[in-house]
Amino acid sequence: MAVFGQKSRNACGVLKNSCRLLFQIWNDAQNCGGSIRALNANIEEIVEANGRAGFFGYVRSLVEAIQKNPSAIAQSKSDLSSYDRVVIGTPVWAWSVSSPVRAYLMANKEHLPEVAFFCTLGGKGSESVFGQMQSLAGKAPLAVYAVTAGEVTSARYGAGLAAFAKALEPSVSSA
Ligand SMILES: Cc1cc2nc3c(=O)[nH]c(=O)nc-3n(C[C@H](O)[C@H](O)[C@H](O)COP(=O)(O)O)c2cc1C
Repeated sequence: MAVFGQKSRNACGVLKNSCRLLFQIWNDAQNCGGSIRALNANIEEIVEANGRAGFFGYVRSLVEAIQKNPSAIAQSKSDLSSYDRVVIGTPVWAWSVSSPVRAYLMANKEHLPEVAFFCTLGGKGSESVFGQMQSLAGKAPLAVYAVTAGEVTSARYGAGLAAFAKALEPSVSSA
């Protein structure tokens, strides 16, 4: 079985080269980025107009998530029609999709090819987030993947990430 992570980077190249795959993550999402960078995939960051540092940034994130409001983001630079699949990742905020990723899904819904979703979280809310993402994208995901902050920081995500990557790229061969 292909294992993605620190010990098996060769399989990551197979993922990158055999499918036109784009990962979209919010530019400030540390754990989202940390969990999927091992795949060596093509990543475009969702760039926000305003930062979220400190206590007020935290409160704003919470309020936007609870109120289901999108934030102000820059227009995507990618031509989505040139990809087979777009994989969208979000942190879980108040059991909801984060406001920048909500904004991305709302802005790009009409142009998304096949989609897959992943989220990073403290521990609870992934199912509700995947449901919200499906509604916002207007289509069911090919695969979903939830990884906790603890798993990312201790690099215990190899098996889950490998299964997700396999679902995204059926032609991944054994490493
Ligand atoms: C405003 C806010 C709300 C959060 N709400 C939840 C939540 O409802 N459930 C949960 O499991 N984690 C929650 N978390 C924790 C984050 O989902 C978790 O730290 C995640 O790994 C962050 O990912 P990132 O580093 O990619 O942004 C919340 C974090 C923030 C900042």
